[in-house]
Amino acid sequence: MTMQSAAPRSKRILMVGAPGSGKGTQADSIAKQFGITHIASGDLLRRHIADGTAIGKTVEDIVNKGELVPDALIMDMLRKPVMAANETGGYVLDGFPRTVEQAEAAYRTAGTLGVGVQIAVHLEVPEEELIRRLLARARGADDTEDVIRHRIKVYEEKTRPLLEYYASRETLIQVNGARPISEVTWSIVVQLQRAFKKPSPRQATTERAVA
Ligand code: AP5
Repeated sequence: MTMQSAAPRSKRILMVGAPGSGKGTQADSIAKQFGITHIASGDLLRRHIADGTAIGKTVEDIVNKGELVPDALIMDMLRKPVMAANETGGYVLDGFPRTVEQAEAAYRTAGTLGVGVQIAVHLEVPEEELIRRLLARARGADDTEDVIRHRIKVYEEKTRPLLEYYASRETLIQVNGARPISEVTWSIVVQLQRAFKKPSPRQATTERAVA
């Protein structure tokens, strides 16, 4: 793997968590704290849908049903923003990768360019709290109870296996996300600062947050 294209000291973080676990909320704070760019695959897809682009028309039905959109489309959509963010300090990715296949594809592409993820942050929140939050938010067609439950099922089947994947390859930070927003932020920032000081990111750590 070559690191030649990596901007010096760029920070590259990703958020893993079920729908409603607070990935977007926390990614915003992390981006501000570390001066890096928040890239949210779901937000980009929703913008395409709102703008009626070709991508938007392809994915609208899939997103509204809570299914995953095709890997190739997501990879194409994210390539430019990830490369650009890497040149300006780094990124916090929220919503990608969603499957081990996406993570492996990203590893092959980003790893070769030296822009691969350094640290994965996992937010754990009980299912009933996820449903409560998303029903209260009611963002759109995918925040109805049936679709929320389906999105959680998709997460458990397709995305949760990523935790093992990152624990064995990168630094994995475990955070209890069922606490007030500022407390969760504090826990993430402290653990990230500690993790970035470590000599090697290829070291799995598991830090259980206080319940
Ligand atoms: P995406 O937009 O990524 O949705 P999601 O993963 O379902 O996550 P949400 O945005 O619903 O929740 P979040 O964890 O970000 O929580 P948030 O901070 O918003 O994806 C949408 C769809 O796009 C997918 O279903 C799929 O179709 C497609 N897609 C996206 N990426 C894809 C990919 N890589 N591959 C294939 N398909 C893809 O918070 C939620 C609410 O809770 C807010 O109201 C917030 O204020 C509140 N809240 C947050 N934290 C707390 C807290 N600590 N206490 C109380 N309330 C809180």
